[in-house]
Amino acid sequence: MEQRISESNTKHYGTALCWWLTVSIVAILVVCAGLFTILTNFHHHSHSHSHSPQQPSNIVPKYASSLQLALQFFDVQKSGKVQNNRVWWRGDSGLRDGIEANLDLSKGMYDAGDLIKFGFPMAFTATVLSWAILEYGHHMDAVNQLDYALDSLNWITDYLVNAHPFADVLYIQVGDPEVDHNCWERPEDMTEKRPLTQINSSFPGTEVAAETAAALASASLVFKDINLTYSEILLEHAQQLFTFADTYKVSYGVSIPQIGKFYNSSGYDDELLWAGSWLYHATKDPSYLTYVTEKNENEFGSLGSLSWFSWDDKHAATQVLLSRVNFFDVRGISDEENLDLQKYREATEILMCKLLPDSQTATTNRTKSGLIWVVPWNSLQHSVASAFLAVLYSDYMLTSQTEFLYCSGKMYKPVDLRKFAISQVEYVLGENPMRMSFVVGYGNEYPKYTHHRGSSIPFDAKTGCRDGFKWYDSPQPNPNVAFGALVGGPFFNDTYNDFRNNSMQAEPTTYSNALLVALLSGLVATSNVVLSF
Ligand SMILES: *[C@@H]1O[C@H](CO)[C@@H](O)[C@H](O)[C@H]1NC(C)=O
Ligand SMILES: *[C@@H]1O[C@H](CO)[C@@H](O)[C@H](O)[C@H]1NC(C)=O
Ligand SMILES: *[C@@H]1O[C@H](CO)[C@@H](O)[C@H](O)[C@H]1NC(C)=O
Ligand SMILES: *[C@@H]1O[C@H](CO)[C@@H](O)[C@H](O)[C@H]1NC(C)=O
Ligand SMILES: *[C@@H]1O[C@H](CO)[C@@H](O)[C@H](O)[C@H]1NC(C)=O
Ligand SMILES: *[C@@H]1O[C@H](CO)[C@@H](O)[C@H](O)[C@H]1NC(C)=O
Repeated sequence: MEQRISESNTKHYGTALCWWLTVSIVAILVVCAGLFTILTNFHHHSHSHSHSPQQPSNIVPKYASSLQLALQFFDVQKSGKVQNNRVWWRGDSGLRDGIEANLDLSKGMYDAGDLIKFGFPMAFTATVLSWAILEYGHHMDAVNQLDYALDSLNWITDYLVNAHPFADVLYIQVGDPEVDHNCWERPEDMTEKRPLTQINSSFPGTEVAAETAAALASASLVFKDINLTYSEILLEHAQQLFTFADTYKVSYGVSIPQIGKFYNSSGYDDELLWAGSWLYHATKDPSYLTYVTEKNENEFGSLGSLSWFSWDDKHAATQVLLSRVNFFDVRGISDEENLDLQKYREATEILMCKLLPDSQTATTNRTKSGLIWVVPWNSLQHSVASAFLAVLYSDYMLTSQTEFLYCSGKMYKPVDLRKFAISQVEYVLGENPMRMSFVVGYGNEYPKYTHHRGSSIPFDAKTGCRDGFKWYDSPQPNPNVAFGALVGGPFFNDTYNDFRNNSMQAEPTTYSNALLVALLSGLVATSNVVLSF
């Protein structure tokens, strides 16, 4: 890896002069094109609305319909008093959540097929939705999905704000997973106690505080033009939570060992950098940039090792997000910090080379038919996450007119990354050895026995905790179709067992759906400019 970086550096110096010449010519062309556009727009103005250069084009209908489905899954997962819910079999639930602490924690979303609100993956879901909206909101809008995405994000951020009543107190969980997992019932019928779990200065939890900061900072950018008051509230919470996370550096699984079995985190370095990067984007305060570059890049950046983007690991995503600064927003940034940003970008390039299937450094963590595959549990999370980063990076390249990516001396173009991303989503939608779609309700063949309480119990059945298990064991397909749910996914040998008891493969999650939404938003259209934030 070191070798590859120095190779490409040498190349940079050798071609510097040529580069400047090219830049000058391009600059002249851009000015001419700009004048031309202004003139044409002016000319057309009296006739019709002019096409802005950001107008999405080449809309892909199948990605538009799968995006619509993927977003609808959030309506399946909502807790609280549901309004205008598109899923007919969902009703109010969790209305008293938070009441013992005098808080309204009724909103938010259940993480997966069960009925717990886990703060860590929920915050991650919000961060990914925000990111998707910031980069590709104009694509979502072009296929009439933006309002649904905003609504789902808002549903989580309302909860997260309420879960943070004091600077150093964050409620990170509602419900007891041990109790919940012994029950099989619809959320609407829950009668069990819903205990709250908090972190505080005596029992801190860096990962979950920092991820919540990332969620609220990114969402503050999303809502800036929609509701400035709300955006400022989100940002204030984000900044407090980041300070909380950074002041008491302790893994939340260490402070609160009982969370260990459910969404424990493998370390907080990535969340601190991720949250710091989002806060830099949200505030442009240079101290956040210094935090993620000079102060902590070497210790926390993990730049030398490949990682897979997931609810637990945000190293790769942070590298992409900071590449963005290096691509588009270097004004006023010191040379030292720019070099640090360059290192993030080089780490991203290494990842992109791993993802490209025919590059010399292509990862072997993929199935025979080309799907990125890392772990048997919820395997598709890594495929869609990797594909999202790839399509985003390819758009950064296009927008910045970066023509080539070099992988061990071989040249790739942005379109190669996009092709890779398409290959992953095509697999998910049915181009696979099983000839089935992994998105419930998409295509003719899709999972019918998803591991999901609400989906598997008839709407009018009155069950308590235990007697619902007759629906778990039922040989009949789920009576309520959880439209849009992305299930866990195939084994390494491209097989899938459509059994309700198979939570490893057949359980959908909100965070995988958020990643799918992000990926489909990138692919549903093309536009020559990534929206800035
Ligand atoms: C701080 O959090 C711990 C762990 O959740 C909890 O046991 C404790 O009661 C909290 N402290 C206060 C003052 O609420
Ligand atoms: C904007 O956000 C604030 C704070 O959440 C809220 O009170 C207000 O109703 C919102 N305004 C609109 C127009 O939605
Ligand atoms: C949870 O993660 C922390 C930090 O990564 C680790 O120290 C702890 O042992 C883990 N807990 C369990 C039960 O695996
Ligand atoms: C790749 O897959 C192998 C098993 O095939 C696994 O042992 C290894 O940890 C994976 N590598 C990464 C980086 O995930
Ligand atoms: C595929 O892999 C799974 C999980 O490792 C295994 O149980 C199954 O037998 C394999 N199927 C075939 C056809 O090899
Ligand atoms: C899971 O469900 C399948 C299909 O109904 C069944 O064949 C299998 O025995 C079940 N496995 C367990 C561990 O209950």
